[in-house]
This record gives sequence, structure tokens and C-alpha cells, in this order.
Amino acid sequence: MYAVRVAQPLKDSPRAVLGEGPIWDERRDILYWVDIMGGKIYSYDALKGKFDVLIKINDYVTCVALTSDPNFLLVTLKDRVALVDISKKVIARILAKIDEPESNRLNDCKVDAAGRLWFGSMDMNERSPSGSLYVLEPNGVVRKVLSGVTISNGIAWSLDNRYMYYIDSPTKKVMVFNYDINNGRLLSKVMDIDLSKYNGVPDGMTMDSQGYLWVAIYGDGRVLRIDAERGIVVDEVKVSVPYTTSCVFGGPAFSTLFITTARNFPRDVERDSDDGKLHFLNLDVGGYALYKYKLI
Ligand code: BGC
Ligand code: CA
Repeated sequence: MYAVRVAQPLKDSPRAVLGEGPIWDERRDILYWVDIMGGKIYSYDALKGKFDVLIKINDYVTCVALTSDPNFLLVTLKDRVALVDISKKVIARILAKIDEPESNRLNDCKVDAAGRLWFGSMDMNERSPSGSLYVLEPNGVVRKVLSGVTISNGIAWSLDNRYMYYIDSPTKKVMVFNYDINNGRLLSKVMDIDLSKYNGVPDGMTMDSQGYLWVAIYGDGRVLRIDAERGIVVDEVKVSVPYTTSCVFGGPAFSTLFITTARNFPRDVERDSDDGKLHFLNLDVGGYALYKYKLI
């Protein structure tokens, strides 16, 4: 039976201009997420209920990912991938500089089961297909995998790693590819999951431990649970604000869905509400530990 559940804002959450890319680190019981426009990585200590700013820099901070060393995070900026030292709260090292048009910036990212970082770029005007999808291998080599992308967004894999799911937001689809986990290669396209009936665009996504995708619909204040094999929406979560950007499972049992939202970016008027806050919902289905970028 199709179920509609309702998420709540976390009362003391900071309000991001463009909150994005939540990740749960089970080694610290901490949630990290970014404010792309505010140049920040936020942290939320779920046990203490405490929010903090890990770093604030003068650049777009577009995505954050876990690494095999619990003291370091990976972060994508406007056109660079960097390592963040968590205890020193600084950018420790630039790992890669990406050759992109000036009017582009990087956007969402995700680590695969082999410890590679997948990340993409977008046209900041959200119109021209000048973006790409890239992979950063653990040995530091960057490969371009796809071009002709307008707003590179959600990335996820099936539990058995045989499929990769990928969103270019304006297409209003989740693309499903056969995936070669050994070589980190996208193989043939299997199908598109069409989400054009919603009043927004698919943005970030995560996978649950039963193999279902959870896709945030930006502009429509909801997260859809999708049976990725059959390509159908089976459940949804309503959020009280329209710009739902991404989600991840966290909490001690991975059974809390954390949802990031945007405040007034890019086309709304400023509102005094829960826009931009972190929202959450406790569920009976959960997630699992995110993969870590292999630092060698
Ligand atoms: C981007 C935003 C964009 C939104 C909807 C986000 O991932 O960072 O700039 O408006 O997706 O496509
Ligand atoms: Ca996004």
C-alpha cells in the first residue's frame, strides 16, 4: 500500500541557502552536509543534538564525502576536489583541479563500493548541457565519464553494484545503467525512470537496505521511494518546504531519513520558515554505512 509520511524540521537547525549532500558518518555518529552558496560544511552531532560549522570558505562548497581515514572528509568546491582535516577544520590538500567552463560549478557526488569518488558539474544558469560526470580514482586520476549534462545530481548504486542510478535534473528522470564495479565503468543504459509528473525536478538520492531508491524532488517538497527494478514510485515523504534537495539514512540504527532543503535559492523570495533547515523522519526501513573514498 502506497504510504505518505511527513517529515519534521530539526528545530535548532541552521538555515542553509542551498543545503545539500547529507552524509552520515557512523564512526562518529555525525551527519555532515553542505551549504553550496554559503560555502560551508555543517555538522550535526545526533547524540548531543548539536549543530556546528565545520568549515566556511570563500568558494562554492558543492558536496562532501567520507574517506577511509575518519579524520578526513573529501569536499568538492567550484572546480576542485579537496581533503578536509576535521580536527583542524581546514582544507588540508587539493586532490584534483577539474577543467570546466567558468560558468559551471561542480555539484552532487557519491563514493562507490570500490572507494572511487563520483562527482558531476552543472551550468550555473541551469540551461546549457555544458556539464559532465567524473570519477576520481583512489590513485588520484580523474576520468570524464559523461558529457552533455545540464545539472549533474543524484548518484547511487544497487546493493549488488550491478546498476548505477544517475540524475541530470532537467530531464526529470533517473537513468539506470549497467555498472562495472571492478573497473568503475558505466555500461549500457537499462532504462529511464520518468518522474515528469511531479512539480519539480529530481535532485539528490540515496539507497535503502532493501534496494529501494529515495529521491528528493526539488521544488515539490517531497522525497519519493522508488522500486528501481520496476521503475515505480512506491511510497513518499512529504516535507513542509518546497526545495527538498537530498537525503541520507543516519542515526545509530540508520533508520532516520535526513533531508536537506534550500532556503530561497535560486528563484523564490525569502521566507521566514523552515526552508533551508535539515528535516528528518524515523522509519522502519533504513540505510547502511556509506562507502568511503579510499585514501592511499
Ligand atoms: C543544484 C541547484 C539546482 C537544483 C535543482 C541542485 O543540486 O545545486 O543549483 O537548482 O539541484 O536542479
Ligand atoms: Ca543536488
